[in-house]
Amino acid sequence: MSIPLVDLQSQYMSIKKEIDSIIAEVISKSAFIGGPYGKSFEEAFAQFCGVKHCVGVGNGTDALFIALKTLGISAGDEVITVANSFIATAEAITMTGAKVVFVDIDPRTYNMDPNKLEECLRTRNSKPETRNKVKAVIPVHLYGQPADMDPILAIAKKYNLKVVEDAAQAHGAEYKGRKIGSIGDMACFSFYPGKNLGAYGDAGAIVTNDDNFALKARMFANHGRIGKYDHEIEGVNSRLDGLQAAILDVKLRHLLEWTENRRKHAYLYNEYLKGTDLITPAEIDNVKAVYHLYVVRIRKELRQKLQEHLKSKDISTGIHYPIALPNLKAYTYLSHSESDFPEATRASQEILSLPMYPELKEIQIQFIAERIKEFSSKK
Ligand SMILES: Cc1ncc(COP(=O)(O)O)c(C=O)c1O
Repeated sequence: MSIPLVDLQSQYMSIKKEIDSIIAEVISKSAFIGGPYGKSFEEAFAQFCGVKHCVGVGNGTDALFIALKTLGISAGDEVITVANSFIATAEAITMTGAKVVFVDIDPRTYNMDPNKLEECLRTRNSKPETRNKVKAVIPVHLYGQPADMDPILAIAKKYNLKVVEDAAQAHGAEYKGRKIGSIGDMACFSFYPGKNLGAYGDAGAIVTNDDNFALKARMFANHGRIGKYDHEIEGVNSRLDGLQAAILDVKLRHLLEWTENRRKHAYLYNEYLKGTDLITPAEIDNVKAVYHLYVVRIRKELRQKLQEHLKSKDISTGIHYPIALPNLKAYTYLSHSESDFPEATRASQEILSLPMYPELKEIQIQFIAERIKEFSSKK
């Protein structure tokens, strides 16, 4: 039994008829850019997130960049994000000219630790050279686990910061009864093919309840214009194309069912992995996690051996992410050491992502857990 980390093929096969017919329809109407498909998906996705506006863009990285530009972030500003994420979160900050500032994670959830956020703001505001420079914070709902938004929002309010949620991995997740995407000033989604809601190419979206932010983001993403040649500002070209929008609209209708499957799989893994020395994912109280990834934790010296053992049984695994952002070569200019972010650094050496996708079967989860138990008893 060969088990991939994600399986896009079986998902496509399950909705092939709908997808093939919508692709043919978009092509027959040449509705490639703009047009009815983008509008229809934006409306449906805004409703799904419980917000007023959705602005489709080219990808999730652009969504973050455009959201920050919309909020007026620019050179001289600082934006805080979390040390454990995909590099895109930090890249988007740098792209605006602002400086990226990292804070460590809560080791239980691998998400931003609100205490560390406050500590970071206190420190930066205590020094004249960084006082009041931080203008925004980007919490990331990593692996589909909602970040602890209430304390983050309270700190943001206290320090007058805008909040941009990085929801690239968290379509449909909920935090204390609120949909992820509806909590911050703006939220950004990626529809990269492997995401919980994935396009058949690159795509992304910004969602917000603020009319003005929505208008500005839409303008900036489309060369700074609303009409054909009335460019009010210089912007960028980052639009959600018609084919991707139509595909996403079809897939959105299945997302609730796919999400429930992911959640069931996660709970089955938790059960079947009992008795091993792996640490299984923790959900904080009152959240609905959507398990973009199912990430376990194992002692550093055993991780590679477990990965190899599983590989020898045809089970693929991944590491998200093997190097905490501040420790990447790309950020050596910030002169951090691993001890600045002890939790993110330790997690990066111990985490392991097991296969997770809606079409996974209980028998496969059982098989994976048995192979892990076999490994635990051999070591
Ligand atoms: C947490 C996070 N933020 C941002 C992005 C960027 O999204 P994209 O790949 O669509 O640019 C991704 C996805 O790759 C991500 O996982």
